[in-house]
Amino acid sequence: MKLWGGRFTKETNQLVNEFNASISFDKRFFRQDIDGSIAHVTMLAAVGILTHEEKESIIKALTDIKNEIIEGTLEIDESFEDIHSFVEAELTRRTGDTGKKLHTGRSRNDQVALDMKLYTRDDIDETDRRLKHLMATLLTMAEAHTETYMPGFTHLQKAQPLTLAHHLGAYFEMFKRDRSRLHDIRVRMNTCPLGSGALAGTTYPLDRNMTAQLLGFDGPTLNSMDSVSDRDYLIEYLGALSTIMMHLSRFCEEIILWNSNEYQFIELDDAYSTGSSIMPQKKNPDIAELVRGKTGRVYGALTALLTTMKGIPLAYNKDMQEDKEMSFDAMDTVKACITLFDGMISTMKINKQAMENSARHGFTNATDAADYLVGKGVPFRDAHGIVGQLVLYCIEKGIALDDMTLEEYKAVSPVFEEDIYDAISIRNCVELRNTIGAPGKKAMQEVIEINKKYMEEN
Ligand code: ARG
Repeated sequence: MKLWGGRFTKETNQLVNEFNASISFDKRFFRQDIDGSIAHVTMLAAVGILTHEEKESIIKALTDIKNEIIEGTLEIDESFEDIHSFVEAELTRRTGDTGKKLHTGRSRNDQVALDMKLYTRDDIDETDRRLKHLMATLLTMAEAHTETYMPGFTHLQKAQPLTLAHHLGAYFEMFKRDRSRLHDIRVRMNTCPLGSGALAGTTYPLDRNMTAQLLGFDGPTLNSMDSVSDRDYLIEYLGALSTIMMHLSRFCEEIILWNSNEYQFIELDDAYSTGSSIMPQKKNPDIAELVRGKTGRVYGALTALLTTMKGIPLAYNKDMQEDKEMSFDAMDTVKACITLFDGMISTMKINKQAMENSARHGFTNATDAADYLVGKGVPFRDAHGIVGQLVLYCIEKGIALDDMTLEEYKAVSPVFEEDIYDAISIRNCVELRNTIGAPGKKAMQEVIEINKKYMEEN
C-alpha cells in the first residue's frame, strides 16, 4: 500500500501513519493530480521512455479513475498515505506492471508542487469570477442610486453629503484592485515545477517544455530546488484573499450599522437574515457578521503559512504539507463569503428617505455654508468660525441649518442672503461636486461608464 516500503524492516507505528498522512485533505486535488500524471506520461512517451501502447493504457486508466471518482463510483481509499499513492496504486491494480512506470523521472515533491499550483490556479480563476459577479451587482446598484443622498462619514461622524452610488463605488474600486492582484499572482506563478524530481532534476531526458505547455504553463521553472520548495505564490494568494476579506469585512461592518434600529438605512432581506431563539422581534444580520468574523481565519492562514515557511532549509521538507489545510480553508471561506455577500446586498431594501433624512440632520452641509461665505469674499478661516457659531446655535435650538430664518443668519453675519438656502440644499451640496471621483451625478455617471468598460474588458 505504501510507495516506499523497500528499505524498511518494521511496520510504521499506527499513530505515525495517521500523523503523517495527508489523504484526508489532499484527496480534493485528485483531478489536478491525474491531469499532471497524464501530461507526464504523454511526455515520457514522446521522449521514448514509454511505448505508445504503455502511454495509451495508462492514460485510459487514469481517465477512467478520474471519471469514476467524479461520478462517485470509485471511492478514494483513505488508508493510503496521500492522493498520489492512492491514484498510483489504483492505476497499477488496473494496468499491472505498465502502471508501475508512471512515476519514472518524477518525485512526489515535484508532483505535489505541481498539484498545489494547478489547484491554486483554478481557485484563483473561480475567486476572480465571483468577484466580478459581485462587482456587476455593485455597478447595477450604483446606476440606480446616483440620486440617493446619504451622509458620508469620517470618524463615524456625519461629514459631508454624498450618494449611495458613490459609497458603493468606493468598494467597486477596492474589488478592482483585488482582481488586479489575483491577475498579477496568476501571471507570476504560471511556471511548471514538474520534472524537477525530488530536488535535483532527473537523469532522464525529460521534455519539461512539453509538460509545461500541456498543462497551460508559460514554461518550466528554472531551478529544481526552488521548484519543489516554493510556496510564495500561495503566500501571495493568501495575502490577496486576506485583502479581499478585509474589504468585505469593512463593508459588512457598514451593512450591520445601516441595518441597525438606529440607522435603518437598509433592511436585509428575510432570506439573508436570521432570528433569535428568545427575542421574537429580532432580525439579525448574521451573514454580515459571519463574513466579518471569518476574516480572522483567512488572516490566520496567511500568518500560519508565513511562519511555517520561515525556517525551512532547501529543499522539500515535510513541514510544507502544512500548506494545504489552511489554504484550502481560506480558499473555501473567501469564495463562500463573496457569494453570500453578493446575494445579501443585491436583495436588501434601501430606505432612500432614511438616508436622505440622515444627511439633512447632522450638519453635513456646514462646509458648503462656509464655502458660500468664501464665495461672497469672506476668508475661509473666518467663514469656518461663523458657520461654527451657526452650528452651535442650531444645536441649542434643535434645528438644522436649513431651518434657520434669514434674520437668524444675518444676526451672525450680514453677508448671508436668500441664496444661502440653495447653496446648502443637500442636493446642491452633492451635485456641485463634479470633479472626477466626486459624488456629483455627472461625475458619478462618467465613472460608471469607465467601469462598465472595465467590466467588458476584464
Ligand atoms: N503529502 C506531501 C505534501 O503534501 C506530499 C509530498 C511528499 N514527499 C515526501 N518526500 N514525503 O507535501
